[in-house]
Amino acid sequence: MWPQELIDFRQLVGDRVLLRPYRKGDGLALYEAIHSSLDRITPWFLWANAEHSVEISESKVEMLADLFLNQQDLTLGIWDLDEKTILGGSGLHRFDWKLRLCEIGYWIRTGFEGKGYVIETVKLLEDFAFGVLGMNTVQIRLVPSNVRSQRVAERCGYRYDGTVRRITFMGNGELADLSIFSKTVDEWEAK
Ligand SMILES: CC(C)(COP(=O)(O)OP(=O)(O)OC[C@H]1O[C@@H](n2cnc3c(N)ncnc32)[C@H](O)[C@@H]1OP(=O)(O)O)[C@@H](O)C(=O)NCCC(=O)NCCS
Repeated sequence: MWPQELIDFRQLVGDRVLLRPYRKGDGLALYEAIHSSLDRITPWFLWANAEHSVEISESKVEMLADLFLNQQDLTLGIWDLDEKTILGGSGLHRFDWKLRLCEIGYWIRTGFEGKGYVIETVKLLEDFAFGVLGMNTVQIRLVPSNVRSQRVAERCGYRYDGTVRRITFMGNGELADLSIFSKTVDEWEAK
């Protein structure tokens, strides 16, 4: 059972990004964001290698909205402040309510890289995870060859815990190792 703060979740707003769950009607915006970013996201995500169309993206946003309503996952679009353009995707995933542990994931749309939008997104999400949801630990998991993702984790103050062998897939379906970076609530409070 999710805490009430997560059931009531609507959006997080930063200086330049607005994070909110996808909803019915977002399919076109999501399709455009994914379609224009394929060359950069296909190496890393199985879902990016599936077929894409506006209709498929519309089904996907409805499926993600259901996962949120069914308290299974908080996938979020990264929008510009007037909610016209999807800048990328993020979210809090793999909640473990006994350990109070969850994971932040992210991707940014082609043309919006290198501007700090992901760093801003991670900070908004960790403030929510630690400050509102009372998490003990937040993880960022990445394959060791994903240098850009590692740079985001390190810039946001996440520490390297270790690498687990062959427990994830690359975008092309090959097995890959996964490095885990994490921040504890004590480290967040000391920021
Ligand atoms: C991984 C990924 C999300 C990183 O995106 P990114 O654009 O590098 O991250 P940010 O938006 O936070 O930008 C950070 C960079 O912007 C710079 N920057 C520019 N303006 C900034 C600002 N106002 N505030 C903060 N940083 C700023 C930072 O210095 C940093 O530069 P650096 O890359 O030289 O260190 C992106 O490469 C991506 O989408 N990759 C494909 C999908 C993927 O791999 N996802 C992760 C799976 S684990």
